[in-house]
Amino acid sequence: MISLRSLFHRQAEPLMGLDISSSSIKLVELGFMDKSMPPQGLLNNDHVADPSHWVLERCAMETLDRPWVVDGHIEQLEPLAEALGRLLQRCGTTTKRVAMALPPSSVITKKINLPAGLNEAEMEAMVQVEANQYIPFPLEEVSLDFCVVGPSAASAADVEVLIAAARREKVQDLQALAESVGLDPVTVDVESYAARRAAWAAIQSVPFNGDPPMVALLELGATTSSLQVLRQGEVVFERDQAFGGAALTQAIAQQFGFSPEDAEARKRKGDLPDSYATEVLPAFLDSLAQDVARALKYFFTSTPYHRVDQILLAGGCATLSGLPQAVSHWVQTPAAVLNPFAGMALGAGLSTAVGTSMGSNPLHQRQAPSFLTACGLAMRRAA
Ligand SMILES: Nc1ncnc2c1ncn2[C@@H]1O[C@H](COP(=O)(O)OP(=O)(O)OP(=O)(O)O)[C@@H](O)[C@H]1O
Ligand SMILES: [Mg+2]
Repeated sequence: MISLRSLFHRQAEPLMGLDISSSSIKLVELGFMDKSMPPQGLLNNDHVADPSHWVLERCAMETLDRPWVVDGHIEQLEPLAEALGRLLQRCGTTTKRVAMALPPSSVITKKINLPAGLNEAEMEAMVQVEANQYIPFPLEEVSLDFCVVGPSAASAADVEVLIAAARREKVQDLQALAESVGLDPVTVDVESYAARRAAWAAIQSVPFNGDPPMVALLELGATTSSLQVLRQGEVVFERDQAFGGAALTQAIAQQFGFSPEDAEARKRKGDLPDSYATEVLPAFLDSLAQDVARALKYFFTSTPYHRVDQILLAGGCATLSGLPQAVSHWVQTPAAVLNPFAGMALGAGLSTAVGTSMGSNPLHQRQAPSFLTACGLAMRRAA
């Protein structure tokens, strides 16, 4: 049985990132070139996120006709397993080891201080005792993981330890899904951690002029959008919000009299009447950008911070043309679309594996922002 124990362990062998979300399953597989890498134990975020170490071997997506996963809870395993099976068959991968993730709302994380110099077993015992205080359900129902972050700022005799806990049934649901199609689930991560990992290179390259840079990373999904704000690379705010592209699908269905399924498929393919670009899209872009502005306003009012320097947009909605402009306008802050594959080499099989049925523009180019979390999960191969 896997547990969140695997969350902080490094994975060197081939590994696929699988993002099981409400509107689709996304798969990313990265090759790892460890040419100039330090020994495994010394890898840091900058090394892992450096795109020159990665080759994009596979990226593919299977859309779901119903949201079989809601808030990290698998409502029906069978249709999800069928969709995952189709996706694997289409990509033709032989890799079995997979990394998956739970949404941040399903995982409790907490930093604690423990005496330095404990061995693994002693530390595990102390983590269990500490975890008891923070976790609102019995420990036997919980999957627990921890890692030493570094020396404690409070005391030289202590180390800072990050603990993570999730309901065991949620971890087991993911495990059951993977195993039902013959995969080996080796890692359960947190979606926002994975997104951050894949965005790290872009976050680090935001220019700054003396003050620590503040970067807002927004993953705009179908029904949920995740905002995290990083100050000089450290997370100072994280919150999921209930808005996303499903509202645009609904507007399209209403305007043109399509069924919701038809509206969604046409939206993704770009197969919509001409008046969509003038009568439907602009209003949605404004409304989405205002949602983003509200989310950031909440960040400003609930934290000591009063600015962000750059907004990075990802998720399926970030592929909508005109979105960065609308967000920049409403938030009065530069906004750009984030491509998690930027700077990576492309594997030989990529265009045939993912580009054929989707027109001339390969999926990895057109929909790159959708793969942020899946890409960060695939990076667990070296992270
Ligand atoms: N090419 C496209 N053009 C327009 N909209 C798109 C396109 N591709 C995806 N979307 C929209 O993006 C949304 C899905 O984004 P994403 O895949 O990031 O969400 P998700 O992770 O499945 O959803 P959630 O995070 O809410 O569970 C949907 O509303 C979908 O219609
Ligand atoms: Mg998502």
